[in-house]
Amino acid sequence: MSNKKEILTAPFVIETIRTCSNMYRLGWDERNGGNISFMLEEKDVAEYLDVNKAIRQIEVKFDARELLGKIFIVTGTGKYFKNVEFDPAKNLGIIRITGDGAKADVLWGFSDGGRPTSELPAHLMSHIERLKIDPSHRVIMHTHSTNTLAMTYIHELSERAFTRTLWQMSTECIVVFPDGVGILPWMLCGNDEIGRATAKKMREFRLCVWAMHGIFGSGRDLDEAFGLIETVEKGATIYMNIGGRKILNTIKDGELKILAEAFGVNYRKDYLDI
Ligand code: 13P
Ligand code: ZN
Repeated sequence: MSNKKEILTAPFVIETIRTCSNMYRLGWDERNGGNISFMLEEKDVAEYLDVNKAIRQIEVKFDARELLGKIFIVTGTGKYFKNVEFDPAKNLGIIRITGDGAKADVLWGFSDGGRPTSELPAHLMSHIERLKIDPSHRVIMHTHSTNTLAMTYIHELSERAFTRTLWQMSTECIVVFPDGVGILPWMLCGNDEIGRATAKKMREFRLCVWAMHGIFGSGRDLDEAFGLIETVEKGATIYMNIGGRKILNTIKDGELKILAEAFGVNYRKDYLDI
């Protein structure tokens, strides 16, 4: 008899399932849109699984040597967020980066022979960069949050201009993401090139908008990554609700400065005209 606990009772599995359902219900993850990867502690996973026992091995198709031995719970490619709660073992997987860093052992999940998200390169490269900045970093989250996406069609795509507009759309924005949002132009998704470009932005920002596609967020846990994306989406929703009508009132740069200072956040000073 195994002395391991039932994996579906693991907090990291439950939280991942709840996050997927939540994001689906917000309308951000149509069909198979969106993906999550969450780096786990080996000792936590070992309560539920034999971390040295691979069900099978998959190619990760790029050099993830810096993450050798790291374990992630990841959403599956082509899998629908709406279905995760009803069949977690099919729609999610737990993988461990092995071999020379170009392979991953599947420790659990992907039960229909599935694979991790096609955006795995962008996730793993972003994990590498965020971990260099913050050793407590754990989560990369990608989603098609509706108003953020809409905003990329009608707003200038400079990082400064886009961030400034979001900061003006709601008082909490500069407090939640004082580091602003990085932006990539439209690019083909699911490959190393967009992965490298995203990871490069992640050196400077915890958020990266993919124009006409969606957004990447990072965090120390699922809540933080989700909260960042949710706050950008709130700002973008206000912007889209204004819908080009004449703006009579806004949060002025001097007020944004006062706000950031009152909350003690390290904001991008060069993004304000002061
Ligand atoms: P996956 O189904 O491979 O995770 O892709 C979804 C997506 O949002 C691509 O950008
Ligand atoms: Zn996507």
